Amino acid sequence: MSLPRSDALVFFGATGDLAYKKIFPALQAMIKRGHLDIPVIGVAKAGWDLERLKQHARESLQENGGLDSDAFTRLTSLLRYVDGDYRDPATFSALRKTVDGVHRFLHYLAIPPSMFAAVAEGLAGADCVKDARVVVEKPFGRDLASARALSATLHRYFAEQDIFRIDHYLGKETVQNLLYFRFANPLLIAGWSKNHLESVQVTMAEDFGVAGRGKFYEEVGAIRDVVQNHMLQVVASLAMECPVGSDHESLRDERGKLLQSIKTLAPNDILRGQFRGYRGEPGVDPNSKVETFAALRFAIDNDRWTGVPFHVRVGKNLPVTVTEVMVKFKRPHRPVLDESGHMLANYYRFRLTPELVIAVGAKVKRPGEQMVGQRAELVAHYAQPDEMEPYERLLGDAIRGDATLFARGDAVESAWRILDQILGTGSPLYEYDPGSWGPTEADGPLAPEGGWNDPVASQASG
Ligand code: BG6
Repeated sequence: MSLPRSDALVFFGATGDLAYKKIFPALQAMIKRGHLDIPVIGVAKAGWDLERLKQHARESLQENGGLDSDAFTRLTSLLRYVDGDYRDPATFSALRKTVDGVHRFLHYLAIPPSMFAAVAEGLAGADCVKDARVVVEKPFGRDLASARALSATLHRYFAEQDIFRIDHYLGKETVQNLLYFRFANPLLIAGWSKNHLESVQVTMAEDFGVAGRGKFYEEVGAIRDVVQNHMLQVVASLAMECPVGSDHESLRDERGKLLQSIKTLAPNDILRGQFRGYRGEPGVDPNSKVETFAALRFAIDNDRWTGVPFHVRVGKNLPVTVTEVMVKFKRPHRPVLDESGHMLANYYRFRLTPELVIAVGAKVKRPGEQMVGQRAELVAHYAQPDEMEPYERLLGDAIRGDATLFARGDAVESAWRILDQILGTGSPLYEYDPGSWGPTEADGPLAPEGGWNDPVASQASG
């Protein structure tokens, strides 16, 4: 079903970090592909004018992926700027005047959630919400109660179908490919359940710290920053049922159902860590108890998955930057095939960042007289030079009104519900050295059977 396109893109927070790092590069990429031809209005309170914003956009592109002078010229011809306070109705009447004749705005709120209500009210007062769509950044709320309150605020002015909650992992080519691979291959469909699988684990490792975002990080920590959203969406992509239709909601329905069936975590399902030196970062409390590492164990309570643990490990300042999934099969009992008396498990390995790798782990016979085996991995790499970055894909989708790759309110609330009892800084926090795999305690009872996957070792094999 095709919906009417938005006819102007307004982004609040035009002078901020997100616009600088992600939005301008996405806009330029859209222009290059011929996907953007509507006015783009930046709004901020910075005392700037349009020329200053253009200069800022130029610097953003030079630093983030490179400036294409033709595309930049076209981008600047679409660009407008409104400077003003988000609490002042004059800001919104200026916006309305800047693009007279617009019927269907797309408003991108790249601003702190505490400003959402004021901006939505200002937009409504200036007749900018009728038939409009709104894009909001993650994390959506701080817990279940605040996420519900935020949705209620937005619902005063926007219908649920017009609210686009960003989780850029859903816009990744690799995450889309994971879904496609799962549902397009009978080989995989056959074994994908508790009958054959022993465990699933996801590691999201980053080899850098908080990279100047200490103040932001103090407010969120690893669990709110990447588990509530990116990691739970990856778990949902791995475990959900195949959508029954190809419309926008079918996929979101299945994601939503899967998240609903994940049990609420208890304190012994999580272990938190903090890298040594975090407390000395700018913007960080010298006594901070905020986690930069977390290991968690999720349980899915449905027919397909009961009894199969889903382990997730995330962290800053780990040895490598990679997001990798390991799906392990149960070991069959065939002692005759192996002198050690047991078979190595088959597995699927999916690397989701920095590039897509799909690998199948198997065991083959070692040449010789004995029936003994050795490991083998069948590896497929995919890389496309002009692959769409998530923000480009998601902005284009939002302009077209396609919400498939955005988190729906019920899914976001389920994700908060799952974590609601373990949020906060009350549970023990273990220190770890930068460059290590996190606290050694993470290798204890919370570790998957057979230990955590080592993405550095798998990197060596592809
Ligand atoms: C962001 C988090 O949402 O995702 C960051 O706020 C994190 O802390 C980033 O570094 C990782 O995204 P990607 O696409 O680089 O894996």
